[in-house]
Amino acid sequence: MFGSTKQCSCKMLIQIQHKLKQLIAKQTTRACSLKFKHDLSDSLEERKYENEQYDETDSEITFRFKDLTTKLCEPEQLRTKPDVTDLKFGHYFTDHMLKIFYHSKLGGWQRPVIIPFENISLHPAAKVLHYAVELFEGLKAYRGVDDKIRVFRPDLNMGRMNKSALSSGLPTFDGHELIKCINRLVEVDQEWVPHSESSSLYIRPTLIGIDGTLGVQQSESALLYVIICPVGSYFNGNDDSVSLLADPAYTRAWPGGCGDKKLGSNYGPTIRVHNRAIQKGRQQVLWLYGPNHEITEMGTMNMFVAYRNEFGEKVLATPPLSGLILPGITRQSILQLCEQWKDVRVEQRTITMDDVIKWQKAGRLLEMFGSGTACIVTPINSIEYLGEIINIPTIEHKEPLYLKVRESLHAIQYGHIKHPWAQTID
Ligand SMILES: Cc1ncc(COP(=O)(O)O)c(C=O)c1O
Repeated sequence: MFGSTKQCSCKMLIQIQHKLKQLIAKQTTRACSLKFKHDLSDSLEERKYENEQYDETDSEITFRFKDLTTKLCEPEQLRTKPDVTDLKFGHYFTDHMLKIFYHSKLGGWQRPVIIPFENISLHPAAKVLHYAVELFEGLKAYRGVDDKIRVFRPDLNMGRMNKSALSSGLPTFDGHELIKCINRLVEVDQEWVPHSESSSLYIRPTLIGIDGTLGVQQSESALLYVIICPVGSYFNGNDDSVSLLADPAYTRAWPGGCGDKKLGSNYGPTIRVHNRAIQKGRQQVLWLYGPNHEITEMGTMNMFVAYRNEFGEKVLATPPLSGLILPGITRQSILQLCEQWKDVRVEQRTITMDDVIKWQKAGRLLEMFGSGTACIVTPINSIEYLGEIINIPTIEHKEPLYLKVRESLHAIQYGHIKHPWAQTID
């Protein structure tokens, strides 16, 4: 009796396997026609990429928010929330995560799912593990003074993420669909958004190539996932200024490279240089480029320099998006705000170490600060360069620009003022 049940279930299994094979064959035909569509648009995609004008709404092949399903944690799976006064960046994750697979053989993007937070399982030959076929984003949700949760300029992160995907041969998608899925994830874990104006919820979308094959080729399968974590403030009061090590022996990005994309491969190799800065008693690296020691970025932040020009005008300068600079969303926001204020001349220009030394010696150097989602605005107090210490008077002014910028962004992010950059998640 037992033996015949076993035989019968084996037969059934073979039949099911056969049916599945037929089904996959059908889907592969569909995938081929979709792939063909993709190939046709390749040159167009490439042109958009070259022009930095990628419009994610053009993505024909995408997952859809309407297909999103949610599997909530069982009560015993819920994690203990950390104290908001003790939020170490990137150490605590919420109860759920978003996952979306891409398999070209199955027609491309699969249905998005929100599931309890879990480890991911990868083939040991997965492209991400060998060739760093990986990109990520970083954006934040803030609990406003009205208790509403707002996400800061997510559309810009989506545009940047698609550009990173194109540069890595990973699939693109409609950014609006991902924003809606992320908003749902934040809504599901909304109690993790700190009830505090010195904390926020960091959102980390990640896209990895998961083909289990060795060889530097395009990954035909990928996993897009989003994890979120409550994070504390990077700054305490006004004196959170940092010192930098500027060593022309190291370069973060170069022309024709991919320093302007948010690829994991840009970050790993910087750790050694960062450690060197720490050993020398500095907190961050000031990344220089070329024979003129051009200032590019600081740590993982964009750079701003405020100085008085030869006509006595106050100028806020930042290096141009020449391919060496990550197009930061905070950078763009600061430029837009300062252009509206009109009390400072805004310039995107090359800044060399010689310029900084010249302005400092002439008493015309006012401020230097870094900008980024994680810490918003970080003032700089000194730079170690070729064995000398250059003092930067950023925090010595009565009404420094960095503070005005920081406070203005804070007011937008925490809903003190109504602003289109801060989008409520409902
Ligand atoms: C290298 C680098 N530069 C600048 C930034 C700042 O960009 P954003 O303002 O979009 O956070 C980041 C952080 O994403 C970065 O990793």
